[in-house]
Amino acid sequence: MRIGVLTGGGDCPGLNAVIRAIVRTGYYEYHDEVIGIRDGFAGLIRNRTHPLDMNRVSGIMPRGGTILGASNRDNPFDYAEHGNGGMTTTDVSDTVVENYHKNKLDCLIVIGGDGTLDIAHKFIAKGLNIIGIPKTIDNDLNATEVTFGFDTAVGTVVDALDKLHTTAESHHRIMVVEVMGRYAGWIAVASGIGGGAHIILIPEIPFDIDKIVQKIYERKGRGRHFTVIVVAEGATPAGGEMIVKRTVEGAPETMRLGGIGEQVATELEKLTNIEARCTVLGHIQRGGTPSAFDRILATRYGSAAVALAHEGKFDHMVALHSADIVPMPLSEALHKMKRVDLNGSHIKTVRMTGISFGD
Ligand code: F6P
Repeated sequence: MRIGVLTGGGDCPGLNAVIRAIVRTGYYEYHDEVIGIRDGFAGLIRNRTHPLDMNRVSGIMPRGGTILGASNRDNPFDYAEHGNGGMTTTDVSDTVVENYHKNKLDCLIVIGGDGTLDIAHKFIAKGLNIIGIPKTIDNDLNATEVTFGFDTAVGTVVDALDKLHTTAESHHRIMVVEVMGRYAGWIAVASGIGGGAHIILIPEIPFDIDKIVQKIYERKGRGRHFTVIVVAEGATPAGGEMIVKRTVEGAPETMRLGGIGEQVATELEKLTNIEARCTVLGHIQRGGTPSAFDRILATRYGSAAVALAHEGKFDHMVALHSADIVPMPLSEALHKMKRVDLNGSHIKTVRMTGISFGD
């Protein structure tokens, strides 16, 4: 087969491990040719492709990012272009179909989050053979137990929390750490547990600033004069709104969140008279070398996707279920966000170990 591969949406650690697995599985198991597509769907709009052979993927496993480039704004069904008259959007999906055929592709493997996989799914109706591979540091896809990238992102936050603990303790400060995750609190809750945070604020549980103050005083009463707080970028005070930092035209998901960490730190300093600082970890969470867990999951996903292509099981994505990699119809997998389960064991663990959700 001639298999096209693209990485769409925001990047995450482990993308190169998937690309490598696709090329190696194609080479050793099926004698496929693999074609890399540049910058997500933009590469099929502008026909920017190149062969991916064994040498091209040699040594890329530990590298963060994606050797193919990624884009989280080039939606071919609603393609934004800036001209003299401002921004216009057009449907250029037929150009994608043309370029798929020009490149003589038998199948396109799309590695992306919900937005990218949704675009990919629409191409089924236009006759393309699509296989999806789920990725996102946010771990917010219901169709799979874990997305690769998440474990590395959590590791990065835990590392930062370890460092912030020591300076928080030295200066008797409140340290607020804002983390990514969009509308789901997975990164915050997992890293908060692993990094020993005292308070974790997540979008699933609106917080009350007075409850946070109470927790800080409870610690102070025990002689602990510092507090480390993890705040998910989508966290909100009860009755409040998420803070939108910017909007990105042409992206499947236009809102970019951010700013709640600084707001919480400022309010806490006012209310407690304890110095507070905010660290926004931002895109550091998306970079760096993938963890062993992410490399292994990414490699399993990549190989399984090529096997699906050879079974002709298109319009499916690979997913992790009960330790196995299984095919999942895209129609069932899409638009189902996995948020932190309020009755799940993460929440129970947090509460039982005395960490506060500020509620
Ligand atoms: O979905 C991954 C993610 O990193 C989110 O956690 C974050 O809100 C968003 O992407 C940031 O997007 P951008 O790279 O466009 O700033």
